[in-house]
Formats: sequence, structure tokens, C-alpha cells
Amino acid sequence: MTSSLSVVILAAGKGTRMQSAKPKVLQTLAGKSLLGHVLDTCHQLTVDDTIVVYGFGGDQVQTAIDDQYAHLSITWVAQTEQLGTGHAVKVALDKLPKQGQSLILYGDVPLVSGRTLTLLRAANTNGMSMLTLTVNNPFGLGRIKRNSNGDIEAIVEQKDASSAEQQITEINSGIYCVDNALLHKYLPKLSNDNAQQEYYLTDIVKMAVADGISIAAIEPEHAFEIEGVNNRQQLASLERSWQSKLVHDLQVAGVQFADPTRVDIRGSLTAGQDVFVDINVVFEGDCTLGDNVYVEAGCVIKSSQLGNACHIKPYCVIDHAQVGAGVDIGPFAHLRPDTVLSDNSKVGNFVEIKKSVIGKGSKVNHLSYIGDATVGTNANIGAGTITCNYDGVNKSQTIIHDNAFIGSNSSLVAPVTIGKNATVGAGSVITVDVDANALALGRGRQVQKSGFKRPIK
Ligand code: UD1
Ligand code: CA
Repeated sequence: MTSSLSVVILAAGKGTRMQSAKPKVLQTLAGKSLLGHVLDTCHQLTVDDTIVVYGFGGDQVQTAIDDQYAHLSITWVAQTEQLGTGHAVKVALDKLPKQGQSLILYGDVPLVSGRTLTLLRAANTNGMSMLTLTVNNPFGLGRIKRNSNGDIEAIVEQKDASSAEQQITEINSGIYCVDNALLHKYLPKLSNDNAQQEYYLTDIVKMAVADGISIAAIEPEHAFEIEGVNNRQQLASLERSWQSKLVHDLQVAGVQFADPTRVDIRGSLTAGQDVFVDINVVFEGDCTLGDNVYVEAGCVIKSSQLGNACHIKPYCVIDHAQVGAGVDIGPFAHLRPDTVLSDNSKVGNFVEIKKSVIGKGSKVNHLSYIGDATVGTNANIGAGTITCNYDGVNKSQTIIHDNAFIGSNSSLVAPVTIGKNATVGAGSVITVDVDANALALGRGRQVQKSGFKRPIK
């Protein structure tokens, strides 16, 4: 039987150096709050309870997080004064079961991976395991003291370290997996008798060692997993590390990026083989691209699925859309939520589509607005066609059947239906349903005055 797992996320720090009205853990990396990253990652493991220790801006943090993470039923614990990491865990103690294990994480160390946390937990066979790393510049961080056998003896903080201890390059990430029994036993005994007069969580290491407990240590796969965010520079640099990792994984899966440093993935991107992504493309939310999708420069693609061999020309915005195979879009097209483009359809430049289905092989090639519409197969929507879907109060539907041909610059005043194979003459204002196979004209007749003389100066 595996023991229960709690997660304690320390998030009480103010983040003064961010110079922000927003609590630090709500700052975003790859479009998601720092705390959101930590929550999503620990829930890749099976977690029994999630405790967040908050301080500065607690209301703001809870409101923002509870909205999105209601399914985790987070326990919020206030730490009104930030007296140290040990104190922070101590205030959460009466929410922690007596048995089981706890992962201790930081709300401002967003990129620790689920894989690392799983390994850290597996390493805790004796009461406590920790995540450490040997680095070039350990300044400012807690150092791992080992005895001559290489066993961990203690963690010493920068400000308390002797000059010999300052030479140690193995650092403490601050991330641990600890048996709850040890936390219940040691945390009440912490003192703040140190250089910073803080209650150091790290002091539980020497207490455990004194009880004969040997402490396991593992290293993360990537250094960025244990990097924290204290200022905007660190946030930006961590963003870059994360982007390169995502791009690297996609390259391994067969995606070609014109420039791996000029693409941003703010969410998850799944792509088939031989996908090409040109520069300055931004993906948000969960996006899926089929094989041979070709995305040109400057597109923003959000929570959308694009089928095989779609071609997205430059500067399109595609938001919550579902696109079939072999579809051509853009340049400069805007697909708004609930747009469905069926196989081999075409949407051209300066076209906006919202909450509409475009049938197989149909074309909306230039300067149109299609909203709340259903378009059948092989229809042709001429340049400048507008579905007038809104009367100021209600939204109404436009239905265009298979093979219909809508002449340029027509207004289709919804609710209205255009029959199968029907034709609408250019410049029409269509307010009445058009029968199948009919031609509808809704425009003024042309008038001609012969021999007309223009005014002269
Ligand atoms: C701590 C570790 C240090 C480690 C470093 C890694 C201790 C004593 N030291 O350093 O060994 O190398 O992390 O970054 O644990 N927090 C609270 N309440 C508090 C204090 C901190 O919630 O009272 C939170 C902060 O918001 C932050 C995290 O705990 O998310 C770490 O605090 P921080 O001050 O950055 O760490 P240090 O104590 O400097
Ligand atoms: Ca710190």
C-alpha cells in the first residue's frame, strides 16, 4: 500500500522585487500563474491533499486560484508573518495527517517536473528525501553538508556558512519529500537562533540525522526545475528555459521551427510529423496540429485543432476553432470561438468567422464576416459578404445550403436561409429566404442618364 501524499506549497513571500501590485505567485510564465504551474505538476501525481501557505495578497491569490482549480479543493493556510520556511510549514501542521508523506514545494519555483517529484517521492524510503544540485555559483543558497562517507549531515544557509562551507557547491533546492511523522515531531522544536532569526525548515535535516535517519538526495533532470522567481529578469529567463524545452521536445517529435527562439507555446502543443512553424507564432491553451501543417509568420493560435496539411498564411488569429484537413486560412484571417472549418474549405484574407460551420470545399475568400451561420458544402461566399446576425438584442442564424453562390458585397439579414444551389446577385440585401436553384436580387436597379455633363470649374 502506498502511503497518502500531501503537498504543502509555500507561497507567503511578498515578492517585493517584482515591483508589482500582484502577488508574486500570480505572475505568469508561459501564460499560466507560477502557482498554477506547481499545482498542475503535483497533480500529475496522485495527491490526497493540497495545502497552500499564503501571506501577502492572500485574497487575490485564493480568488484567482480557486476559480481555476476548484477540482483540487485546496486548503488555504495563512502565515500572517513571514518568519521563515520552517514557520511556514509549521502553520500548516494541524492540516497535515499524522501518517503519510508530504511534498514541500515553493509557489515561486514553477517548473519542477512531475517526473522529478515522482523520483523524489520514490527516494524517500527512510523518512526524508530532498532535491539538490551541484552548481557553479551557489551564492545565496543553502549548502548541503556531507560527512566523509558522503552522507548528508545538515543544510547550512549562506548567511550562517563558514568560509569553508561557502565553498560547497551542492545546493538545497528547498524541495523535499518528508514523512509527516517527522514534520510533526521536528517542526515544533525549531528555533530561530541563526543569522537571520528565522525558523529554518532546513534545520529538520540535522534533527533527522541525529535520530539516525539517512537522508536521500536526487538531482532534477534540468537545472531550471529548481530555479525560483524573485524578479522580472529571473521570470523572463525561466520563461526562455521553458520555451526551449517545449520546442526541443517538439523538434524531437518531428516539428520544424524556422527559428526555435522565435515561437512561444503558452500551454500544450501536440503536433504530427513534418509540421512547419515560421517565426513569431504564438500558441496558447491546448492546441493540436495534424501532419504536414504549415503555419506562416505571426499567427496566434489558441485552443484550436488543425487537421492534416492545413496551411495557415501569415498573421491569422485562430481562437477555439476546429479545422479539418487541407484547409487554407489567411493571410490576416480571424477565426473566433466555435468556428468549424470542414475539410478542404478556404478562408481568405480579412475574413472574420464566429460560431459558424463552413462545409467541405466551401470558400469564404475575401473581406467577409460570417457569424452564427451554417454553410453547406462547396458554397462560394463572395468578397465582402456579411451575415447581419445581430439586431442589437438578438443573435440570429444564417443557413447557406450546398453549392450556393453568394455574390460579392451582399448582406444576409438573419434569420435567413439560402437554398441549395441558389444564387444571390452581388450587392444584394437579402431579408427573405431564397429557394433552392433560384436567383435572388435585392438591390436598386441601375439607372443611366445619357450625355451627362460633369460640372466645370
Ligand atoms: C530557502 C532554503 C535554502 C534553499 C533556498 C532555495 C531555508 C531556511 N532555506 O532559502 O536552503 O537553498 O530556499 O530557494 O529553508 N516562504 C514562506 N514563508 C516564509 C518564508 C518563506 O512562505 O516565512 C516561502 C517563500 O515565499 C518562497 C519559499 O518559501 O516561496 C522560499 O523562501 P525564500 O526566502 O526564497 O528562501 P530562503 O529562506 O532564502
Ligand atoms: Ca530565496
